[in-house]
Amino acid sequence: MAKSAGPGGEDGLNAAQTADDVVVLEKIEKSFRVGESWVSVLKGIDLAIARGEFVALMGPSGSGKSTLMNIVGCLDKPTSGRYLLLGRDVSSLSEDELARVRRKELGFIFQTFNLIGRVSVLKNVEMPMVLCEMPKDQRRARALELLENVGLAHRVDYSPINLSGGERQRVAIARALANDPDIIIADEPTGNLDLKSSDEVMRIMNHLNQEGRTIIMVTHNPEITEHCSRVIRLRDGKIVEDAP
Ligand SMILES: Nc1ncnc2c1ncn2[C@@H]1O[C@H](COP(=O)(O)OP(=O)(O)OP(=O)(O)O)[C@@H](O)[C@H]1O
Ligand SMILES: [Mg+2]
Repeated sequence: MAKSAGPGGEDGLNAAQTADDVVVLEKIEKSFRVGESWVSVLKGIDLAIARGEFVALMGPSGSGKSTLMNIVGCLDKPTSGRYLLLGRDVSSLSEDELARVRRKELGFIFQTFNLIGRVSVLKNVEMPMVLCEMPKDQRRARALELLENVGLAHRVDYSPINLSGGERQRVAIARALANDPDIIIADEPTGNLDLKSSDEVMRIMNHLNQEGRTIIMVTHNPEITEHCSRVIRLRDGKIVEDAP
C-alpha cells in the first residue's frame, strides 16, 4: 500500500492518507447547543481508515465515541472539518444525499438492536432493500439467505420481541448486510449480550471482516479488541492513542 507524497503530492492526498482509505476525517469538530451555550464534544479528530481494517474505538463514557460514529455513519454532520467517505466529500451533502450514502455504502449495528417489533424478522431484514426498491422476490430470497448465514433460518416468521438478545443482534447484522455495504458501523454491538451471544456476534463480525468489509466498532470490552487490527482510544473528544 503506497503512501502518498504528502500535502500537495501528485495524488492530492495528505501525508497520513493512502488511496485505499475508505474513511478520512480531517480536523473534525462537533459541538452541541445546550440552552444558551455550546458544548464542544469532538475537538479536532484526524483519522484515516483503510479498506479491510477492523477498528475498535474505545474510551470512557462521554468521551465522544457515539458522536464520532454518528458522523462516520453520516447520521450527523460535523460542526467543522472535512469528511471523505470512499473518496467522496460528504461533509456538505444534503439530508437526502446522506440518506442515499447510508443506504448504499454503510451497514449499522447498534447496542439496542433497533429492530421493528411489529413486523417479522424477515421483514426487518427486507426493509433496507424495500427502501432501495429491490423487487419483492429478489429481496425475500436475499433476506432468507442472510438470515440463514447468521443461523436464524428457523426464526424468519418470529417477531423480534420473541427473540433472545443474541438472536436479535444477529437479525440486526443480517439487516445491516442487506445492501451489501463496504463498511460496517457498530456501536457497542455486544453491550447488551451475555458472553455466549457476544462470542457468536464477534465470530460473525470477524467473518465479515475476512470477507473484506471494513469494520469500525465501539466497545468497552478489552477482550473483544483481540479480533481487531487497530485500537483507537478517545478521551475528552480527542484521539489519545492509535495502535495495532
Ligand atoms: N445531542 C446532544 N446534545 C448535547 N450534548 C450531547 C449530544 N450528544 C452527545 N452529547 C454529549 O457529548 C458527550 C459525548 O457523548 P457520546 O454519546 O458521544 O459519548 P460516548 O463516548 O459514546 O459514551 P458512552 O460510552 O456512554 O456511550 C456527552 O457528554 C454527551 O452528553
Ligand atoms: Mg456511546
